[in-house]
Amino acid sequence: MIKKIRKICCIGAGYVGGPTMSVIADRCPHLEVNVVDTNEERIKKWNSKDLTKLPIYEPGLEDVIERRRNKNLKFTSDVKENIANADMIFISVNTPTKSRGLGAGQASDLKWVDLCARQIAKYAKGETIVIEKSTLPVKTAQTINEILKSANTYEEGTNRSKRKFFILSNPEFLAEGTAISDLENPDRVLIGGEDPDAINALAEIYSYWVKKEKIITTDLWSSELSKLISNAFLAQRISSINSISALCEITGADIKDVSLAIGADKRIGKHFLKSGPGFGGSCFKKDILNLVYICNHYGLYEVSSYWQKVIEINEWQQKRISSLIVDKLFGTLFNKKISILGFSFKANTNDTRESPAINICNDLIEEGANLHIYDPKVNEKKIKEDLKNRVKSENINCFVETSINECINNSHAIVIVTEWDEFRNLDWKEIYAKMEKPAWVFDTRNITNSADVLDAGFKFWRTGRTYF
Ligand code: NAD
Ligand code: UGA
Repeated sequence: MIKKIRKICCIGAGYVGGPTMSVIADRCPHLEVNVVDTNEERIKKWNSKDLTKLPIYEPGLEDVIERRRNKNLKFTSDVKENIANADMIFISVNTPTKSRGLGAGQASDLKWVDLCARQIAKYAKGETIVIEKSTLPVKTAQTINEILKSANTYEEGTNRSKRKFFILSNPEFLAEGTAISDLENPDRVLIGGEDPDAINALAEIYSYWVKKEKIITTDLWSSELSKLISNAFLAQRISSINSISALCEITGADIKDVSLAIGADKRIGKHFLKSGPGFGGSCFKKDILNLVYICNHYGLYEVSSYWQKVIEINEWQQKRISSLIVDKLFGTLFNKKISILGFSFKANTNDTRESPAINICNDLIEEGANLHIYDPKVNEKKIKEDLKNRVKSENINCFVETSINECINNSHAIVIVTEWDEFRNLDWKEIYAKMEKPAWVFDTRNITNSADVLDAGFKFWRTGRTYF
Protein backbone atom coordinates (compact mmCIF):
# COMPACT_ATOMS: atom_id res chain seq x y z
CA MET A 1 0.00 0.00 0.00
CA ILE A 2 1.43 3.35 -1.05
CA LYS A 3 1.43 6.10 1.56
CA LYS A 4 -0.86 9.11 1.14
CA ILE A 5 0.44 11.67 -1.34
CA ARG A 6 1.18 15.04 0.26
CA LYS A 7 4.12 16.53 -1.57
CA ILE A 8 4.53 16.74 -5.31
CA CYS A 9 7.62 17.83 -7.18
CA CYS A 10 7.56 18.66 -10.89
CA ILE A 11 10.89 18.80 -12.70
CA GLY A 12 10.58 21.34 -15.53
CA ALA A 13 8.76 24.68 -15.24
CA GLY A 14 7.94 25.03 -18.93
CA TYR A 15 4.77 25.27 -21.01
CA VAL A 16 3.56 21.98 -19.54
CA GLY A 17 5.05 21.86 -16.03
CA GLY A 18 3.98 25.41 -15.09
CA PRO A 19 0.29 25.33 -16.09
CA THR A 20 -0.26 21.65 -15.18
CA MET A 21 1.09 22.02 -11.67
CA SER A 22 -0.79 25.29 -11.20
CA VAL A 23 -4.07 23.56 -11.96
CA ILE A 24 -3.24 20.58 -9.70
CA ALA A 25 -2.41 23.02 -6.87
CA ASP A 26 -5.63 24.92 -7.55
CA ARG A 27 -7.85 21.84 -7.55
CA CYS A 28 -6.05 20.07 -4.70
CA PRO A 29 -5.29 22.70 -2.02
CA HIS A 30 -4.36 19.88 0.39
CA LEU A 31 -1.28 19.05 -1.73
CA GLU A 32 2.03 20.88 -1.63
CA VAL A 33 3.21 21.38 -5.20
CA ASN A 34 6.80 22.41 -5.93
CA VAL A 35 7.91 23.11 -9.48
CA VAL A 36 11.67 23.02 -9.96
CA ASP A 37 13.80 24.10 -12.88
CA THR A 38 17.53 24.53 -13.41
CA ASN A 39 16.80 27.63 -15.49
CA GLU A 40 16.93 30.28 -12.77
CA GLU A 41 15.82 33.05 -15.09
CA ARG A 42 12.62 31.12 -15.80
CA ILE A 43 12.00 30.50 -12.11
CA LYS A 44 12.48 34.19 -11.42
CA LYS A 45 9.82 34.99 -13.99
CA TRP A 46 7.40 32.46 -12.48
CA ASN A 47 7.89 34.30 -9.18
CA SER A 48 7.57 37.81 -10.55
CA LYS A 49 5.09 40.02 -8.71
CA ASP A 50 3.89 41.51 -11.97
CA LEU A 51 1.81 38.65 -13.39
CA THR A 52 2.20 39.93 -16.96
CA LYS A 53 5.87 38.95 -16.62
CA LEU A 54 5.24 35.21 -16.19
CA PRO A 55 7.49 33.26 -18.59
CA ILE A 56 4.58 32.02 -20.66
CA TYR A 57 1.36 33.63 -21.80
CA GLU A 58 -1.78 31.51 -21.37
CA PRO A 59 -5.30 32.85 -20.96
CA GLY A 60 -6.45 32.21 -17.37
CA LEU A 61 -2.98 31.33 -16.05
CA GLU A 62 -2.44 34.58 -14.15
CA ASP A 63 -5.61 34.03 -12.07
CA VAL A 64 -4.58 30.51 -11.06
CA ILE A 65 -1.08 31.65 -10.16
CA GLU A 66 -2.44 34.51 -8.11
CA ARG A 67 -4.69 32.12 -6.18
CA ARG A 68 -2.10 29.46 -5.37
CA ARG A 69 1.45 30.83 -5.60
CA ASN A 70 3.29 30.83 -2.28
CA LYS A 71 0.34 29.00 -0.71
CA ASN A 72 0.57 25.43 -1.94
CA LEU A 73 2.41 26.19 -5.19
CA LYS A 74 6.09 27.10 -5.31
CA PHE A 75 8.54 27.71 -8.14
CA THR A 76 12.15 27.14 -7.17
CA SER A 77 15.52 26.04 -8.47
CA ASP A 78 16.18 23.88 -5.43
CA VAL A 79 16.00 20.55 -7.24
CA LYS A 80 17.69 18.41 -4.59
CA GLU A 81 15.54 19.29 -1.60
CA ASN A 82 12.28 19.05 -3.49
CA ILE A 83 13.09 15.69 -4.99
CA ALA A 84 14.11 14.40 -1.56
CA ASN A 85 10.84 15.51 0.04
CA ALA A 86 8.46 14.43 -2.71
CA ASP A 87 6.02 11.51 -2.59
CA MET A 88 5.34 11.96 -6.28
CA ILE A 89 7.64 13.40 -8.98
CA PHE A 90 6.54 14.53 -12.44
CA ILE A 91 9.19 14.62 -15.14
CA SER A 92 8.13 17.46 -17.40
CA VAL A 93 11.31 18.38 -19.18
CA ASN A 94 11.94 19.12 -22.84
CA THR A 95 12.37 16.23 -25.30
CA PRO A 96 13.31 17.91 -28.59
CA THR A 97 14.59 16.21 -31.71
CA LYS A 98 18.24 15.15 -31.44
CA SER A 99 20.50 17.52 -33.33
CA ARG A 100 23.53 15.25 -33.49
CA GLY A 101 24.69 11.69 -33.08
CA LEU A 102 22.65 8.54 -33.58
CA GLY A 103 19.15 9.35 -34.84
CA ALA A 104 19.96 13.06 -35.34
CA GLY A 105 17.08 14.89 -37.00
CA GLN A 106 14.53 12.25 -35.98
CA ALA A 107 14.92 10.61 -32.58
CA SER A 108 13.96 12.44 -29.39
CA ASP A 109 16.83 13.76 -27.36
CA LEU A 110 16.42 12.09 -23.99
CA LYS A 111 19.40 13.65 -22.27
CA TRP A 112 17.24 15.79 -19.98
CA VAL A 113 15.03 12.83 -19.06
CA ASP A 114 18.09 10.70 -18.39
CA LEU A 115 19.49 13.44 -16.16
CA CYS A 116 16.19 13.74 -14.27
CA ALA A 117 16.14 10.00 -13.61
CA ARG A 118 19.68 10.24 -12.25
CA GLN A 119 18.79 13.20 -10.06
CA ILE A 120 15.81 11.28 -8.70
CA ALA A 121 17.99 8.22 -8.13
CA LYS A 122 20.43 10.39 -6.24
CA TYR A 123 18.13 12.39 -4.01
CA ALA A 124 14.83 10.55 -3.58
CA LYS A 125 14.04 8.99 -0.23
CA GLY A 126 11.53 6.32 0.71
CA GLU A 127 8.70 5.44 -1.66
CA THR A 128 8.41 7.66 -4.71
CA ILE A 129 6.01 7.60 -7.63
CA VAL A 130 7.85 8.83 -10.73
CA ILE A 131 5.63 10.08 -13.52
CA GLU A 132 6.49 10.62 -17.16
CA LYS A 133 4.68 13.83 -18.08
CA SER A 134 7.00 14.65 -20.98
CA THR A 135 6.19 13.11 -24.36
CA LEU A 136 8.52 10.14 -24.76
CA PRO A 137 9.32 7.32 -27.16
CA VAL A 138 7.55 4.09 -26.33
CA LYS A 139 9.60 2.02 -23.86
CA THR A 140 11.26 4.99 -22.13
CA ALA A 141 9.81 3.86 -18.80
CA GLN A 142 12.10 0.85 -19.07
CA THR A 143 15.15 3.15 -19.31
CA ILE A 144 14.00 5.26 -16.37
CA ASN A 145 13.38 2.13 -14.35
CA GLU A 146 16.86 0.79 -15.04
CA ILE A 147 18.48 4.08 -14.05
CA LEU A 148 16.45 4.26 -10.85
CA LYS A 149 17.18 0.66 -9.93
CA SER A 150 20.85 0.58 -10.71
CA ALA A 151 22.09 4.10 -9.98
CA ASN A 152 24.79 3.90 -7.37
CA THR A 153 25.05 7.63 -6.85
CA TYR A 154 22.56 7.92 -4.00
CA GLU A 155 23.33 10.45 -1.32
CA GLU A 156 25.28 9.43 1.66
CA GLY A 157 23.02 8.73 4.58
CA THR A 158 20.11 7.61 2.40
CA ASN A 159 18.93 4.17 3.32
CA ARG A 160 18.93 2.53 -0.10
CA SER A 161 17.06 -0.59 0.98
CA LYS A 162 14.05 1.48 2.06
CA ARG A 163 13.74 3.22 -1.29
CA LYS A 164 11.12 2.13 -3.76
CA PHE A 165 10.11 3.61 -7.11
CA PHE A 166 6.88 3.22 -9.05
CA ILE A 167 6.88 4.46 -12.64
CA LEU A 168 3.78 5.80 -14.35
CA SER A 169 3.17 7.35 -17.74
CA ASN A 170 0.74 10.28 -17.65
CA PRO A 171 1.14 12.15 -20.94
CA GLU A 172 -0.21 15.67 -21.27
CA PHE A 173 -2.71 16.57 -24.00
CA LEU A 174 -3.10 20.30 -23.38
CA ALA A 175 -2.81 22.65 -26.34
CA GLU A 176 -1.11 26.00 -25.94
CA GLY A 177 -3.44 28.98 -25.90
CA THR A 178 -6.14 26.86 -24.22
CA ALA A 179 -3.91 25.13 -21.66
CA ILE A 180 -5.84 26.14 -18.55
CA SER A 181 -9.26 25.18 -19.88
CA ASP A 182 -7.83 21.94 -21.36
CA LEU A 183 -6.36 21.07 -17.95
CA GLU A 184 -9.51 22.02 -16.06
CA ASN A 185 -11.77 20.11 -18.41
CA PRO A 186 -9.74 17.45 -20.21
CA ASP A 187 -11.24 15.07 -22.80
CA ARG A 188 -9.43 12.34 -20.94
CA VAL A 189 -6.61 11.72 -18.49
CA LEU A 190 -4.35 8.83 -19.45
CA ILE A 191 -2.43 6.86 -16.83
CA GLY A 192 -0.23 3.94 -17.80
CA GLY A 193 1.51 1.76 -15.25
CA GLU A 194 2.05 -1.61 -13.66
CA ASP A 195 1.35 -1.00 -10.00
CA PRO A 196 -2.40 -0.60 -9.28
CA ASP A 197 -1.77 1.36 -6.05
CA ALA A 198 0.48 3.86 -7.83
CA ILE A 199 -2.09 4.24 -10.62
CA ASN A 200 -4.84 4.81 -8.03
CA ALA A 201 -2.74 7.39 -6.18
CA LEU A 202 -2.44 9.50 -9.32
CA ALA A 203 -6.04 8.87 -10.41
CA GLU A 204 -7.18 10.05 -6.99
CA ILE A 205 -5.50 13.42 -7.52
CA TYR A 206 -7.25 13.92 -10.87
CA SER A 207 -10.56 12.72 -9.43
CA TYR A 208 -10.82 16.00 -7.48
CA TRP A 209 -11.95 17.64 -10.72
CA VAL A 210 -12.08 15.04 -13.51
CA LYS A 211 -14.95 12.55 -13.81
CA LYS A 212 -13.92 8.91 -13.24
CA GLU A 213 -15.14 7.88 -16.74
CA LYS A 214 -12.58 10.23 -18.25
CA ILE A 215 -9.63 8.63 -16.50
CA ILE A 216 -8.24 5.91 -18.77
CA THR A 217 -5.77 3.45 -17.31
CA THR A 218 -3.53 1.25 -19.45
CA ASP A 219 -0.17 -0.48 -19.42
CA LEU A 220 2.93 1.71 -19.71
CA TRP A 221 3.64 1.13 -23.40
CA SER A 222 0.09 1.84 -24.58
CA SER A 223 0.10 5.09 -22.66
CA GLU A 224 3.48 6.24 -23.97
CA LEU A 225 2.57 5.32 -27.53
CA SER A 226 -0.93 6.85 -27.40
CA LYS A 227 0.53 10.29 -26.80
CA LEU A 228 2.71 10.12 -29.92
CA ILE A 229 -0.14 8.73 -31.98
CA SER A 230 -2.59 11.32 -30.76
CA ASN A 231 -0.30 14.09 -32.02
CA ALA A 232 0.40 12.22 -35.26
CA PHE A 233 -3.35 11.89 -35.99
CA LEU A 234 -3.98 15.57 -35.25
CA ALA A 235 -1.12 16.68 -37.48
CA GLN A 236 -2.25 14.28 -40.20
CA ARG A 237 -5.63 16.02 -40.38
CA ILE A 238 -3.93 19.37 -40.90
CA SER A 239 -1.73 18.01 -43.68
CA SER A 240 -4.77 16.36 -45.26
CA ILE A 241 -6.81 19.56 -45.32
CA ASN A 242 -3.83 21.64 -46.46
CA SER A 243 -3.17 19.27 -49.36
CA ILE A 244 -6.79 19.76 -50.44
CA SER A 245 -6.51 23.56 -50.05
CA ALA A 246 -4.15 23.56 -53.04
CA LEU A 247 -6.65 21.57 -55.08
CA CYS A 248 -9.41 24.01 -54.13
CA GLU A 249 -7.34 26.96 -55.35
CA ILE A 250 -6.93 25.36 -58.77
CA THR A 251 -10.48 24.12 -59.22
CA GLY A 252 -12.44 27.06 -57.81
CA ALA A 253 -13.75 25.13 -54.79
CA ASP A 254 -13.59 26.77 -51.34
CA ILE A 255 -11.71 24.93 -48.60
CA LYS A 256 -13.90 26.47 -45.90
CA ASP A 257 -16.99 24.92 -47.47
CA VAL A 258 -15.22 21.61 -48.04
CA SER A 259 -14.13 21.54 -44.36
CA LEU A 260 -17.66 22.34 -43.25
CA ALA A 261 -19.19 19.69 -45.50
CA ILE A 262 -16.83 16.86 -44.59
CA GLY A 263 -16.69 17.81 -40.89
CA ALA A 264 -20.48 17.56 -40.62
CA ASP A 265 -20.09 13.80 -40.89
CA LYS A 266 -19.70 12.80 -37.26
CA ARG A 267 -17.39 9.97 -38.23
CA ILE A 268 -14.96 12.63 -39.50
CA GLY A 269 -15.77 15.40 -36.99
CA LYS A 270 -15.44 19.16 -37.43
CA HIS A 271 -12.30 19.89 -35.38
CA PHE A 272 -8.80 20.30 -36.74
CA LEU A 273 -9.92 20.91 -40.32
CA LYS A 274 -8.75 24.49 -40.68
CA SER A 275 -6.36 24.93 -43.56
CA GLY A 276 -3.56 27.38 -42.98
CA PRO A 277 0.19 27.90 -43.22
CA GLY A 278 0.90 24.43 -41.85
CA PHE A 279 1.21 23.26 -38.29
CA GLY A 280 3.82 24.76 -35.98
CA GLY A 281 4.52 24.32 -32.30
CA SER A 282 7.17 22.42 -30.45
CA CYS A 283 5.57 19.01 -30.67
CA PHE A 284 3.82 17.86 -33.85
CA LYS A 285 6.93 17.77 -35.99
CA LYS A 286 9.22 16.33 -33.34
CA ASP A 287 6.69 13.70 -32.28
CA ILE A 288 6.06 12.52 -35.84
CA LEU A 289 9.81 12.45 -36.51
CA ASN A 290 10.16 10.35 -33.42
CA LEU A 291 7.40 8.01 -34.63
CA VAL A 292 9.15 7.73 -38.00
CA TYR A 293 12.40 6.89 -36.21
CA ILE A 294 10.76 4.24 -34.03
CA CYS A 295 9.05 2.60 -37.03
CA ASN A 296 12.33 2.49 -38.95
CA HIS A 297 14.04 1.06 -35.89
CA TYR A 298 11.54 -1.82 -35.86
CA GLY A 299 11.81 -2.30 -39.65
CA LEU A 300 8.33 -0.89 -40.39
CA TYR A 301 9.49 1.13 -43.38
CA GLU A 302 6.08 1.56 -45.08
CA VAL A 303 4.61 2.84 -41.81
CA SER A 304 7.45 5.29 -41.34
CA SER A 305 7.20 6.70 -44.88
CA TYR A 306 3.42 7.10 -44.45
CA TRP A 307 3.95 9.40 -41.43
CA GLN A 308 6.95 11.13 -42.97
CA LYS A 309 4.61 12.39 -45.69
CA VAL A 310 2.60 14.34 -43.09
CA ILE A 311 5.70 16.42 -42.38
CA GLU A 312 6.59 16.81 -46.05
CA ILE A 313 3.13 18.17 -46.91
CA ASN A 314 3.47 20.62 -44.02
CA GLU A 315 6.78 21.94 -45.33
CA TRP A 316 5.40 22.04 -48.88
CA GLN A 317 2.41 24.13 -47.76
CA GLN A 318 4.68 26.77 -46.21
CA LYS A 319 6.91 26.91 -49.31
CA ARG A 320 3.83 27.07 -51.52
CA ILE A 321 2.57 30.12 -49.64
CA SER A 322 5.85 32.03 -49.79
CA SER A 323 6.27 31.19 -53.48
CA LEU A 324 2.84 32.43 -54.39
CA ILE A 325 3.42 35.69 -52.51
CA VAL A 326 6.53 36.26 -54.65
CA ASP A 327 4.62 35.29 -57.77
CA LYS A 328 1.66 37.63 -57.09
CA LEU A 329 4.04 40.52 -56.37
CA PHE A 330 5.42 40.25 -59.94
CA GLY A 331 8.25 37.85 -59.15
CA THR A 332 10.34 40.21 -57.06
CA LEU A 333 10.21 41.40 -53.47
CA PHE A 334 13.31 43.52 -53.75
CA ASN A 335 12.82 46.68 -51.67
CA LYS A 336 9.13 45.89 -51.17
CA LYS A 337 7.69 46.44 -47.72
CA ILE A 338 5.68 43.48 -46.49
CA SER A 339 3.67 43.55 -43.26
CA ILE A 340 3.61 40.30 -41.34
CA LEU A 341 0.72 40.05 -38.91
CA GLY A 342 1.38 37.41 -36.27
CA PHE A 343 4.54 35.51 -35.40
CA SER A 344 3.49 32.96 -32.76
CA PHE A 345 2.68 29.46 -34.03
CA LYS A 346 -0.99 29.92 -33.16
CA ALA A 347 -3.13 32.55 -31.45
CA ASN A 348 -3.17 33.13 -27.67
CA THR A 349 0.38 32.03 -27.00
CA ASN A 350 3.77 33.73 -27.03
CA ASP A 351 5.41 30.48 -28.18
CA THR A 352 7.16 30.66 -31.55
CA ARG A 353 8.70 27.20 -31.64
CA GLU A 354 8.41 25.83 -35.22
CA SER A 355 6.10 28.72 -36.08
CA PRO A 356 5.19 28.79 -39.80
CA ALA A 357 6.01 32.52 -39.58
CA ILE A 358 9.71 31.68 -39.23
CA ASN A 359 9.89 29.77 -42.53
CA ILE A 360 7.64 32.18 -44.42
CA CYS A 361 9.59 35.23 -43.19
CA ASN A 362 12.85 33.50 -44.07
CA ASP A 363 11.70 32.89 -47.65
CA LEU A 364 10.51 36.49 -48.06
CA ILE A 365 13.74 37.91 -46.61
CA GLU A 366 15.79 35.74 -48.97
CA GLU A 367 13.78 37.29 -51.83
CA GLY A 368 14.89 40.75 -50.71
CA ALA A 369 11.73 41.86 -48.91
CA ASN A 370 11.72 44.45 -46.20
CA LEU A 371 9.61 42.90 -43.42
CA HIS A 372 7.65 44.76 -40.75
CA ILE A 373 6.36 42.30 -38.20
CA TYR A 374 3.72 42.75 -35.53
CA ASP A 375 2.60 40.19 -32.96
CA PRO A 376 0.53 41.06 -29.87
CA LYS A 377 2.50 38.76 -27.54
CA VAL A 378 5.87 37.93 -29.08
CA ASN A 379 8.54 40.50 -28.31
CA GLU A 380 11.17 41.97 -30.62
CA LYS A 381 14.05 40.07 -29.04
CA LYS A 382 12.38 36.71 -29.66
CA ILE A 383 11.40 37.49 -33.24
CA LYS A 384 14.90 38.68 -34.12
CA GLU A 385 16.51 35.70 -32.41
CA ASP A 386 14.27 33.23 -34.30
CA LEU A 387 15.04 34.87 -37.63
CA LYS A 388 18.75 35.08 -36.92
CA ASN A 389 18.79 31.33 -36.28
CA ARG A 390 16.92 30.62 -39.51
CA VAL A 391 17.90 33.17 -42.16
CA LYS A 392 21.13 32.47 -44.05
CA SER A 393 21.66 35.85 -45.68
CA GLU A 394 23.68 38.37 -43.69
CA ASN A 395 21.25 41.18 -44.26
CA ILE A 396 18.05 40.50 -42.32
CA ASN A 397 15.77 43.30 -43.37
CA CYS A 398 13.25 43.14 -40.59
CA PHE A 399 11.60 45.60 -38.20
CA VAL A 400 9.42 44.61 -35.29
CA GLU A 401 6.52 47.00 -34.70
CA THR A 402 4.27 47.49 -31.71
CA SER A 403 0.99 47.98 -33.57
CA ILE A 404 -0.73 47.06 -36.82
CA ASN A 405 -0.80 50.71 -37.79
CA GLU A 406 2.97 51.12 -37.59
CA CYS A 407 3.32 48.00 -39.66
CA ILE A 408 1.16 48.75 -42.65
CA ASN A 409 2.11 52.30 -43.71
CA ASN A 410 3.39 52.23 -47.32
CA SER A 411 3.55 48.48 -47.44
CA HIS A 412 2.92 46.51 -50.64
CA ALA A 413 1.31 43.53 -48.98
CA ILE A 414 -0.07 42.24 -45.68
CA VAL A 415 0.45 38.60 -44.78
CA ILE A 416 -1.68 37.28 -41.91
CA VAL A 417 0.26 34.39 -40.44
CA THR A 418 -1.32 33.93 -36.99
CA GLU A 419 -5.06 33.96 -36.30
CA TRP A 420 -5.04 36.56 -33.48
CA ASP A 421 -8.53 37.96 -32.88
CA GLU A 422 -7.37 41.53 -33.47
CA PHE A 423 -6.63 40.69 -37.13
CA ARG A 424 -10.16 39.47 -37.84
CA ASN A 425 -12.11 42.68 -38.25
CA LEU A 426 -9.72 45.34 -39.42
CA ASP A 427 -10.83 48.55 -41.10
CA TRP A 428 -9.68 47.46 -44.53
CA LYS A 429 -10.69 50.71 -46.26
CA GLU A 430 -8.53 52.76 -43.91
CA ILE A 431 -5.62 50.34 -44.28
CA TYR A 432 -5.91 50.29 -48.07
CA ALA A 433 -5.56 54.07 -48.18
CA LYS A 434 -2.19 53.87 -46.43
CA MET A 435 -0.63 51.21 -48.66
CA GLU A 436 1.27 51.11 -51.95
CA LYS A 437 -0.84 49.99 -54.93
CA PRO A 438 -1.61 47.38 -56.07
CA ALA A 439 -2.08 46.42 -52.42
CA TRP A 440 -2.30 42.74 -51.50
CA VAL A 441 -3.72 40.83 -48.54
CA PHE A 442 -2.57 37.24 -48.10
CA ASP A 443 -4.73 35.64 -45.43
CA THR A 444 -3.07 32.31 -44.67
CA ARG A 445 -5.51 31.63 -41.81
CA ASN A 446 -8.84 32.37 -43.52
CA ILE A 447 -9.92 34.77 -40.80
CA THR A 448 -10.82 37.91 -42.72
CA ASN A 449 -14.15 38.77 -44.27
CA SER A 450 -13.27 38.42 -47.95
CA ALA A 451 -16.05 40.78 -49.09
CA ASP A 452 -14.69 43.58 -46.85
CA VAL A 453 -11.14 43.12 -48.09
CA LEU A 454 -12.17 43.00 -51.75
CA ASP A 455 -14.57 45.98 -51.39
CA ALA A 456 -11.75 48.07 -49.96
CA GLY A 457 -9.88 47.58 -53.25
CA PHE A 458 -7.31 44.98 -52.26
CA LYS A 459 -6.03 42.16 -54.34
CA PHE A 460 -6.73 39.16 -52.16
CA TRP A 461 -5.56 35.61 -51.65
CA ARG A 462 -6.54 33.25 -48.90
CA THR A 463 -5.70 29.61 -48.33
CA GLY A 464 -7.92 27.27 -50.29
CA ARG A 465 -9.75 29.78 -52.46
CA THR A 466 -8.89 31.78 -55.55
CA TYR A 467 -10.52 35.16 -56.23
CA PHE A 468 -10.45 35.95 -59.93
P1 NAD B 1 9.85 23.57 -22.09
O1 NAD B 1 11.12 23.60 -22.84
O2 NAD B 1 8.94 24.76 -22.11
O3 NAD B 1 10.15 23.27 -20.54
C1 NAD B 1 11.03 22.28 -20.09
C2 NAD B 1 11.78 22.82 -18.87
O4 NAD B 1 12.51 21.75 -18.26
C3 NAD B 1 12.81 23.91 -19.19
O5 NAD B 1 12.48 25.10 -18.49
C4 NAD B 1 14.15 23.32 -18.73
O6 NAD B 1 15.02 24.28 -18.16
C5 NAD B 1 13.70 22.32 -17.68
N1 NAD B 1 14.66 21.24 -17.43
C6 NAD B 1 15.27 20.42 -18.32
N2 NAD B 1 16.03 19.53 -17.68
C7 NAD B 1 15.93 19.78 -16.35
C8 NAD B 1 16.48 19.18 -15.17
N3 NAD B 1 17.27 18.11 -15.26
N4 NAD B 1 16.16 19.70 -13.97
C9 NAD B 1 15.33 20.76 -13.87
N5 NAD B 1 14.77 21.36 -14.95
C10 NAD B 1 15.06 20.87 -16.17
O7 NAD B 1 9.06 22.28 -22.59
P2 NAD B 1 7.47 22.05 -22.60
O8 NAD B 1 6.86 22.71 -23.79
O9 NAD B 1 6.92 22.30 -21.24
O10 NAD B 1 7.42 20.48 -22.91
C11 NAD B 1 7.82 19.54 -21.95
C12 NAD B 1 7.40 18.16 -22.41
O11 NAD B 1 5.98 18.10 -22.54
C13 NAD B 1 7.94 17.76 -23.80
O12 NAD B 1 8.23 16.39 -23.78
C14 NAD B 1 6.79 18.04 -24.73
O13 NAD B 1 6.81 17.21 -25.86
C15 NAD B 1 5.59 17.70 -23.85
N6 NAD B 1 4.35 18.41 -24.18
C16 NAD B 1 4.38 19.74 -24.50
C17 NAD B 1 3.18 20.41 -24.74
C18 NAD B 1 3.16 21.87 -25.09
O14 NAD B 1 2.09 22.38 -25.41
N7 NAD B 1 4.25 22.59 -25.04
C19 NAD B 1 1.97 19.73 -24.63
C20 NAD B 1 1.97 18.38 -24.27
C21 NAD B 1 3.17 17.73 -24.05
C1 UGA C 1 -0.87 20.08 -29.82
C2 UGA C 1 -2.05 19.17 -29.49
O1 UGA C 1 -3.27 19.79 -29.92
C3 UGA C 1 -2.12 18.88 -27.99
O2 UGA C 1 -3.16 17.93 -27.72
C4 UGA C 1 -0.77 18.31 -27.53
O3 UGA C 1 -0.79 18.11 -26.13
C5 UGA C 1 0.34 19.28 -27.89
O4 UGA C 1 0.32 19.51 -29.32
C6 UGA C 1 1.70 18.75 -27.58
O5 UGA C 1 1.89 17.57 -27.43
O6 UGA C 1 2.57 19.62 -27.56
P1 UGA C 1 -0.41 22.69 -29.70
O7 UGA C 1 0.72 22.38 -30.61
O8 UGA C 1 -0.14 23.50 -28.50
O9 UGA C 1 -1.11 21.35 -29.19
O10 UGA C 1 -1.56 23.47 -30.51
P2 UGA C 1 -2.62 22.99 -31.61
O11 UGA C 1 -3.89 23.66 -31.35
O12 UGA C 1 -2.67 21.53 -31.76
O13 UGA C 1 -2.01 23.60 -32.94
C7 UGA C 1 -0.84 23.08 -33.54
C8 UGA C 1 -0.64 23.74 -34.89
O14 UGA C 1 -1.62 23.30 -35.82
C9 UGA C 1 -0.75 25.26 -34.84
O15 UGA C 1 0.23 25.83 -35.67
C10 UGA C 1 -2.14 25.51 -35.38
O16 UGA C 1 -2.30 26.78 -35.95
C11 UGA C 1 -2.27 24.41 -36.42
N1 UGA C 1 -3.65 24.05 -36.74
C12 UGA C 1 -4.47 23.55 -35.78
C13 UGA C 1 -4.12 24.20 -38.04
O17 UGA C 1 -3.38 24.65 -38.95
N2 UGA C 1 -5.41 23.83 -38.34
C14 UGA C 1 -6.24 23.32 -37.40
O18 UGA C 1 -7.41 23.01 -37.75
C15 UGA C 1 -5.76 23.18 -36.09
